[in-house]
Amino acid sequence: MTPYEKLLEENKAWAGEMIDEDPDYFNRLAHLQTPEFLWIGCSDSRVPADKITGTQPGEIFVHRNIANMVVHTDVNLLSVLDYAVNHLKVKHVIVCGHYGCGGIKAAMTNHDYQHVLNMWLRNIKDVYSMYRKELNEIKNEEQRTDRLVELNVKEQVMHLAQTAIIQRAWAHEQRPHLHGWVYGLKDGLIKSVFEMPAGTHIDNLYEYDNL
Ligand code: CO
Repeated sequence: MTPYEKLLEENKAWAGEMIDEDPDYFNRLAHLQTPEFLWIGCSDSRVPADKITGTQPGEIFVHRNIANMVVHTDVNLLSVLDYAVNHLKVKHVIVCGHYGCGGIKAAMTNHDYQHVLNMWLRNIKDVYSMYRKELNEIKNEEQRTDRLVELNVKEQVMHLAQTAIIQRAWAHEQRPHLHGWVYGLKDGLIKSVFEMPAGTHIDNLYEYDNL
């Protein structure tokens, strides 16, 4: 059996187990999706949103990209955000980074990754640039990387708060609460590094007044 065939076999086994436990399981899920959480995480295969939070299918709406970025021109991310906030009515949006993130590490080098990867990593370099003084004072490279992971999560949460999607939901429905978390690959634990409850005021330049 090839590795990809094993995936399909495992899937059959899993579906069978679920039905054994609860015959109505898929029927119920097929008709209902009411997740309370939107998860914006890294694509890294070691950070599966549902496994590390002990959540079941139907509980978390997920978007993942390299280094869990919120880029204001990313139509994919914005569509997911719009749908989650305005249609699914999520109560929480979580940006979850992780220590040892390859995307963050790559952005800290001077290496040319060519084409679109350079474009993507540029967004992370811009975060480094904002916190250059603090980061350059950290001599240990691993610690400097981990600090950038934390600062990057904070910046991405602020990017969420700068969207009209979030500001409109805050103004009219007092939700969602925005969370900035970092997952530790070494201990499996999630640490909260930044929180923005609904209605938090941000830099006036980015606040809309006709929502
Ligand atoms: Co990563």
